[in-house]
Amino acid sequence: MDHLEGYERVAVVTGAAQGLGLAIAKSLLEKGKKVVFIDVNQELLQELEQSFQSNYKERAMFLQMDVSNICQIRESINTIITQWKRIDILVNNAGIREETSIEDIEEHEWDRIIDVNLKSTFFFSQSVIDVMKKQKWGRIINMSSFGGQVGPLTSGAHYCASKAGQLALTKVFARSLSKDGITVNAVAPAAIRTPEMDRIEPGKLAKMVEGIPIGRVGEDLEVAELVLYLASESAGYITGSTFDINGGLLMR
Ligand SMILES: NC(=O)c1ccc[n+]([C@@H]2O[C@H](COP(=O)([O-])OP(=O)(O)OC[C@H]3O[C@@H](n4cnc5c(N)ncnc54)[C@H](O)[C@@H]3O)[C@@H](O)[C@H]2O)c1
Repeated sequence: MDHLEGYERVAVVTGAAQGLGLAIAKSLLEKGKKVVFIDVNQELLQELEQSFQSNYKERAMFLQMDVSNICQIRESINTIITQWKRIDILVNNAGIREETSIEDIEEHEWDRIIDVNLKSTFFFSQSVIDVMKKQKWGRIINMSSFGGQVGPLTSGAHYCASKAGQLALTKVFARSLSKDGITVNAVAPAAIRTPEMDRIEPGKLAKMVEGIPIGRVGEDLEVAELVLYLASESAGYITGSTFDINGGLLMR
């Protein structure tokens, strides 16, 4: 049942102001969920909020916050529970990426990437466990990366380490919550068209595409469809898994 008696499931998507997070959040809205759009970018969130039609407005909440800040994570969870009483789906999608070489990575850049990509995944997941356990239902989906499985296409060591860390957290949480009706899975994309991809130098991107067996970059909606499935009622027997969506770059 996608609809509970009298109210809809509540989904929280981090990094939802653009790119994959936005595609995922909009797809969840279209499927009838209530959706919390979380992002650090206030301007983009405001633009989105203004662009929403009235029927979506009632089911969309916009929270500006930095996902690497534990106090802000806990405040946002309190706000959501106070207003909507439950949290059914958490998509840990917010992420940042740098291409800095091993030799040039400095401590502040290392810390920032690990905090935004990995620490946030742990503390957001930790913060929703209680409510999901009470509901005896939950879906946590972590947006990892090909870089966390195989090493870099274009990204730095810190990014790859943070994405590999998310894969480990996926298994740790999946095992720990498996008797509570809560599933935890990871998605590992490579080369999906988003604003972040526009930062890759065109020559480098063209070379990357040459190496993709399917011969093109992926689209944000293709990733959103996979996340929708993992967040659905039908996916209750899948947990601790990583789903590759990379045009065949990694076959295993
Ligand atoms: N696009 C790809 O090809 C690709 C490949 C592998 C993995 N991923 C992963 O998918 C996720 C989304 O990537 P994308 O390409 O859509 O990126 P993007 O940069 O287009 O969007 C990321 C969003 O996260 C937000 N964000 C960044 N730092 C934040 C913070 N501290 N707190 C709250 N929000 C923050 C940004 O404002 C932005 O809206 C990331 O975790 C990324 O590592 C993407």
